[in-house]
Amino acid sequence: MRKLPTRVDKTSEIYATNVAAYRELDAELRAAMQFAIDGGKGRDRSIERHYKRGKLMSRERIDAVIDADTAFLELSTLAGWGMVNDEFPGGGTVTGIGVVHGVPWMFIASDATVKGGSLFPAGIKKQVRAQDIALENGLGTIYLVDSGGAYLPMQDEVFPDKDHFGGGFYRQARMSAAGLPQMSVVLGGCTAGGAYVPALSDEVIMVDGIGRIFLGGPPIVKAALGEIIDQDDLGGAALHTRQSGVSDYMVNTEREAYALLRDLCANTNQRRMDQPAGWLDTAEPEPPAYDVEEIFGIINADTRIPFDCHEIIARIIDGSKFSEFKPDWGDSIVCGYARIWGHLVGVIANNGIIFNESALKAAHFIELCEQRAVPLLFLQNTSGYMVGRDSEVGGIAKNGAKMVSAVANARVPKFTVLTGGSYGAGNYGMCGRGFAPRFLFTWPNSRIATMAADTAETVLTDIRVGGLKGAETTEEQLAKVRAEIREQYETQSSPYYATSRLWDDGLILPTDTRDALGMCLSLVARQPGPEVGDKIVYRM
Ligand code: COA
Repeated sequence: MRKLPTRVDKTSEIYATNVAAYRELDAELRAAMQFAIDGGKGRDRSIERHYKRGKLMSRERIDAVIDADTAFLELSTLAGWGMVNDEFPGGGTVTGIGVVHGVPWMFIASDATVKGGSLFPAGIKKQVRAQDIALENGLGTIYLVDSGGAYLPMQDEVFPDKDHFGGGFYRQARMSAAGLPQMSVVLGGCTAGGAYVPALSDEVIMVDGIGRIFLGGPPIVKAALGEIIDQDDLGGAALHTRQSGVSDYMVNTEREAYALLRDLCANTNQRRMDQPAGWLDTAEPEPPAYDVEEIFGIINADTRIPFDCHEIIARIIDGSKFSEFKPDWGDSIVCGYARIWGHLVGVIANNGIIFNESALKAAHFIELCEQRAVPLLFLQNTSGYMVGRDSEVGGIAKNGAKMVSAVANARVPKFTVLTGGSYGAGNYGMCGRGFAPRFLFTWPNSRIATMAADTAETVLTDIRVGGLKGAETTEEQLAKVRAEIREQYETQSSPYYATSRLWDDGLILPTDTRDALGMCLSLVARQPGPEVGDKIVYRM
């Protein structure tokens, strides 16, 4: 593999302008993350009350369980961002991957300081997505339960459908049957539907004095049966550990619970992070030869001005060493082999609009990676496939379809990062959410929509004017229509709009991307290799 050269001039004015602009995006993202951690109306009081009850915050709980000095890959931190008057910072739950005795686990931890840990639509979507990631990546799940269950005012949007509450329980039962341990620690009231998270777990720990499980809480019992009973007598740790058997262990404090949980996890016979299954070629890792922070100066502050994806690739991969495939053909897509944290990976990155040759080159490269069982990394930054007569004559519809079909049918693990624009069918061909990448991360400078706001303004205005069928339109009306369309597209293509709706697994900084991908690759390396079918490579 050859070390990629760089053309970045760190002394240029444009570099300094770009860095300054990206620092603002960085600060905005950090502020948003902080809001998810402890922000929101009245949250101060909830947090104070939570601590007064002797409870830890969700992230402190996770910290107490994972191995010392190991990183936690938090997912979808900004789920629910800007929804329901921002009443659900972080979606009311914390999910992510952490390591316990060397083994990776999925964590799903309720945040009781957000509406009692109850789940509104983006919260349940986040929980179900975490379970899907766990299943696909062969991870046991640890549930740190402190939740009021379904958010009742929006029950029609969280309760009945396939991927709502029932879907979460379905996944829990299926994962257990697939040999992926389901462990619960009960740290708050688990009422009604909430009771099934621990009840469906393989092993359950309850913390005396704070953990409670009941199908109907004291108010319901009073209304239904006239019984007046306190919470612990109805469903406390002692009752469930010594009488009902719903819980397997009772402890006095949260800290004791986490020490016991770590002991229990040690008996689950799961493969550790340092025990790869052996199918993925892995070498000694080396850092990139260029400083990753330089990406801030490479990405243009004006999203319409392109940047060379080689410069991005060089700052993410080991030693900046890249073995490029077909470098002299179809150059608006760059394909090649590299290593990330030692793991071999096939990189496919956009350098602008996707032309006929580029689509064919990408399809060919996907076949090669499939034949060789090499995972694929897609770095998206495209306005989509090329339009126009020349492109149509060249068969862009079928060539794009070949690429889309190759992506859809690739059985090697796929990962996607939105490094810039993700527009139109470019999103599909470059393994957008619909094409089931194992993980999809988004950079704060990225944009995602059917088309860019500039294009939408023209296309949709023409459609609306056409719909008026010759009726007079004043310049003023046209300007208003244009402004409305632009505003809609600008709002909806924001990466915050996307991450809020779980179109990705998290908004991350370019500087954290290599580590996040390294962890994801380590997860797939410890699983059995992909079952690729016929290893046919059709030359395109
Ligand atoms: N739906 C909607 N809001 C809920 C909720 C739910 N399932 N569970 C809790 N909340 C809200 C409360 O209304 C309160 O909101 P506010 O801060 O705006 O006033 C906030 O969460 C905190 O609840 P509170 O009861 O004050 O906290 P607590 O720590 O004393 O008790 C629970 C927490 C979860 C034990 C308790 O709220 C509860 O039992 N909730 C109802 C659970 C239920 O019946 N769920 C049905 C699931 S199908």
